[in-house]
Amino acid sequence: MFENEETRDMPKQKPEQPNENAIKNLINALNEDLAREYQAIIAYTVYSNVLSGAQWMKIADELKLHAAEELQHAMIIADQIDYLGGMPTATPKEVKLSDKAEDMLRFDLDNETATIRNYRERVQQAEALGHYALAEQLRHIIAQEQEHQHDLATALGIDVPKVLPQGA
Ligand SMILES: [Fe+2]
Ligand SMILES: [Fe+2]
Repeated sequence: MFENEETRDMPKQKPEQPNENAIKNLINALNEDLAREYQAIIAYTVYSNVLSGAQWMKIADELKLHAAEELQHAMIIADQIDYLGGMPTATPKEVKLSDKAEDMLRFDLDNETATIRNYRERVQQAEALGHYALAEQLRHIIAQEQEHQHDLATALGIDVPKVLPQGA
């Protein structure tokens, strides 16, 4: 086709980027994950210091280790958001407080279960986009979140909750 007056002044078509929306969705979802990691850092820092009573000493020490691991997760997720061209959030999800040790451990347990469910989704999203290194890092994080979940359930004397309603 020859250029004429009409076509020459038309804006150039942007190249087709079918993954653009999917990448944006992944960045937004990773920022939700990052906000959950901040929540976990804060919760474990506070709870590990306010849990009192001989029966909670062991789990209080474990929560301090969890806090350090959650910080590593936050660093990895923030780095990946930056790599994908996004801006890492600076806002944590809300941290609930209670006077009761059982409540605090239950909040943590529920958050860990939600975190694992979300990271499993994120692995699928990352793989669908061909970001296999990210998927690998997420799998490593999931393994640690499962240990956290297990520690909390053990301290509460209950079974580890199912991540999915159908039992996986
Ligand atoms: Fe984490
Ligand atoms: Fe965790």
